[in-house]
Amino acid sequence: MKKITIAIDGFSSTGKSTIAKQLAQKLGYVYVDTGAMYRAVTLYALQHKYINNGEDNSEGLINHLDKIYVEFKFNHELGFAEMYLNGKNVEKEIRTLQVSNFVSKISAIPEVRKKLVQLQKEMGKNKGIVMDGRDIGTVVFPDAELKLFMTASPEHRAMRRYKELIDRREDVKYEEVLNNVQNRDYLDANREISPLKKAEDAIEFDNSDMGLEEQFERIYNFAIRVI
Ligand code: C5P
Repeated sequence: MKKITIAIDGFSSTGKSTIAKQLAQKLGYVYVDTGAMYRAVTLYALQHKYINNGEDNSEGLINHLDKIYVEFKFNHELGFAEMYLNGKNVEKEIRTLQVSNFVSKISAIPEVRKKLVQLQKEMGKNKGIVMDGRDIGTVVFPDAELKLFMTASPEHRAMRRYKELIDRREDVKYEEVLNNVQNRDYLDANREISPLKKAEDAIEFDNSDMGLEEQFERIYNFAIRVI
């Protein structure tokens, strides 16, 4: 079987990462969650007070970008890779609503995107990779053999994310999560550099009313046809 590149883009909380992870596992491919990389840089910016409510110091962050080291390390017990920021496991910290509320701002900074896109291209240079994000099919791997663009209604997506956060014992309200999802959709789709949009050759996939098994079955079949 030949090794290909699979790019999965789409709006927030469309379940991209769940499907991408399963697909990579089944194909024996590497899985990369690029959202985790933008989240890790956001966590760094929050920890070092380059952003807080109202006052931003993006210059400060840009000047310190070379001090930010993000990497994935495979956790054999859990069966998936976790995000490390400067040597520390931050997998839990990057998933909070606080990070979600700032990540679209940080990901719109051209210097941040340049650094992370370069790393992502490097990770995928040998193919055999499933990468999910917002600009994978358009910017990171425009030549990917299979491109998917996942969508679902904002309400379905917010409910999914709300349940995840509640499972992790975060104290959040559904309306707050819906607001964050809609806000990020807007910022991600309207930013100047690499806005979220469907690549012309991507397959659009609306999973509002589809269970995980059916989604996986269909997407796996798309992949098999290409491989
Ligand atoms: O995928 P996830 O929801 O974790 O992504 C968090 C945020 O990171 C997105 O809302 C977006 O602002 C940013 N992102 C991006 N480009 C990517 C992946 C994520 O701008 N390739």
